Amino acid sequence: MNLPANFTYVGVDDHDIDLFEGQFVVPNGISYNSFIIQDEKIAVMDSVDKHFTDQWLTNIKEVLGQKTPDYLVVSHMEPDHSGSIQAFMEAFPNTTIVLNAKSAPMLEKYFGANYSEQTLIVKNEDTLSLGEHTLTFIFAPMVHWPEVMMSYEPTTKTLFSADAFGKFGVLSHNEEWACEARRYYFGIVAPYGKQVQNTLKKLGSFEIERICPLHGPILDHDLETYLSLYNTWSSYEAETKGVAIAYASVYGHTKVAAEKLAELLSAKGTSVELHDLTRGDEAEAIEDAFRYTTLVCASVTYNGSMFPAMRNFLADLVEKKYQNRTVAFIQNGSWAPAATKAMKSTLEGCKNITFCEQEVSVAGALTPETEKELELLANALA
Ligand code: FEO
Repeated sequence: MNLPANFTYVGVDDHDIDLFEGQFVVPNGISYNSFIIQDEKIAVMDSVDKHFTDQWLTNIKEVLGQKTPDYLVVSHMEPDHSGSIQAFMEAFPNTTIVLNAKSAPMLEKYFGANYSEQTLIVKNEDTLSLGEHTLTFIFAPMVHWPEVMMSYEPTTKTLFSADAFGKFGVLSHNEEWACEARRYYFGIVAPYGKQVQNTLKKLGSFEIERICPLHGPILDHDLETYLSLYNTWSSYEAETKGVAIAYASVYGHTKVAAEKLAELLSAKGTSVELHDLTRGDEAEAIEDAFRYTTLVCASVTYNGSMFPAMRNFLADLVEKKYQNRTVAFIQNGSWAPAATKAMKSTLEGCKNITFCEQEVSVAGALTPETEKELELLANALA
């Protein structure tokens, strides 16, 4: 890990987690990042999930030996980062917890302990001198909790960015950043695009050469790429021209229709991603719905509406402020097809959504007529 002198990584890799934040599958685990800055004063940047308290405290003690930390900087009070604060304060009772006025009450709520004598409450743009290094606190409310604050260290041009720029996957799993960073962003931060935009504007006045998020790798090259992707994602613009197809099928006929459309679009040179909403990872489907310019929703009719997996998917998109896209529909219904009407009505309140005029209605299995409808839809979308 390429860190400035006097900076040490003391975070942990979690290979054991079943679901991150209780809902996201993380096949390659997740890291909880924490750092030590050693100067005239010693600052520990964030704690870790409570399941890794011992490992984290051991990491800190190995780095510091007989020395003790002066400050524990709390960027974010969500328990994946705050879970070990109480144990830390038992191990290092003379440390001052550095946090803001929104975080302070949460300490008591989580730990039932009063730390008011051991806290330093900071305001936006306050600075904390450690000696040669100084931390400037940049509040980033709702990225993605209200109390989130980042810290900027000017001599090393390092930004401690809290959850922003984080990704799923342990540090020891080496992979391209964008795929799991995108799934993380649209899974967790997407509803707060406006607040991310505000934070990006604030960051514009800092010269940044290194980003240390709370999850995933330290970013110290191609920062323009990461910042630009965050700008695209948080402005709800599509990243890639192409089509995401999300389908909910019971006996496979709607799946066949979705696959046929994918085949027709691919033959025309269009980028396509297919997602099975009933058996796949919904977060992957959400990610691609935001990634591509166009979304196709294909659902069997169920209880006079759409299939439950499609209902959940569209409700999640609405909650995440889905906008600025073209959406097309395929429905299936052997006696009273009603899925398209229900899907459309769910998305009707979304900003700047264009519904494709060409619709496909299948009644059971595909027929030459419905295959023709799929061809017309592919022509409209390609
Ligand atoms: Fe990584 Fe919002 O906690």
